[in-house]
Amino acid sequence: VIYKVGILGASGRMGQEIAALLSNGFALGSDSFELCDGITQSGRLQSIDGMPLRLISDPPREPVHVWIDFSRPEATLDLLQSISTPVVIGTTGFKEPELEAIRAFAKTYPVLLCPNTSPGMSVMLRIVRETAPLGRLGFATVLHEEHHKHKQDSPSGTAKRLLSALEEAGFDSTQVHVTRAGSTVGTHTVRWVAEGEEILVEHRVTDRRVFAKGALLGASFLAKQTVPRVYRFEEIQW
Ligand SMILES: NC(=O)c1ccc[n+]([C@@H]2O[C@H](COP(=O)([O-])OP(=O)(O)OC[C@H]3O[C@@H](n4cnc5c(N)ncnc54)[C@H](OP(=O)(O)O)[C@@H]3O)[C@@H](O)[C@H]2O)c1
Repeated sequence: VIYKVGILGASGRMGQEIAALLSNGFALGSDSFELCDGITQSGRLQSIDGMPLRLISDPPREPVHVWIDFSRPEATLDLLQSISTPVVIGTTGFKEPELEAIRAFAKTYPVLLCPNTSPGMSVMLRIVRETAPLGRLGFATVLHEEHHKHKQDSPSGTAKRLLSALEEAGFDSTQVHVTRAGSTVGTHTVRWVAEGEEILVEHRVTDRRVFAKGALLGASFLAKQTVPRVYRFEEIQW
């Protein structure tokens, strides 16, 4: 199947990474993708492979099967007002009323809400949920996340998801530390600390292409869903 894809945030760090994969003919088994629409805000990048980028308020270039969004919460909400297709939301930093608007959209169209599109992080979340016995043994938890200095939201969407996984495992007073420095793509570390011993699980992304490939994996998963609801990245089987 060839999926027609639109990117909100096409001129951004993630948007350009996804567009580069698409330009190079990225395929997943028998699924391939075609970039058919792209939205920017400032016009700092005017086109990708000859396809002009547009503003969110401009008319769509052509129909797409699935939108991929890596932008800012306010842009995501504007997009939802203007589309009638499934959407992979990789943007982070939503507040509760914004999440409510996403849930309302998902009553009609499937939404994949994924603050981290790295398959490795899905496995880390599963590991974290399995650690309830450590709480009973007296371990306390510490979470550290580090990202590049341009990252806007803090703590990261992934850190919030790790915190809720820790809560599910019975850890409700995790210490959280955030670093914003240099060009770190994304590191999340969870430590379980007790008297005289410590367990540490760390996930490091060193190349944004990991997130970009994950977003396309998410797009091919979402395009096949017929039930409108909010899906999570951890629901994808691989
Ligand atoms: N899910 C994941 O795995 C994952 C991984 C990395 C990042 N993220 C998240 O993805 C988002 C984007 O990250 P990034 O590093 O790619 O950011 P970025 O480089 O700053 O790019 C943001 C993009 O959004 C566009 N944009 C911003 N406001 C807009 C608006 N009001 N209307 C239309 N377009 C708008 C920008 O357009 P201009 O260029 O014109 O300003 C740009 O294309 C962030 O929330 C980040 O936390 C998620």
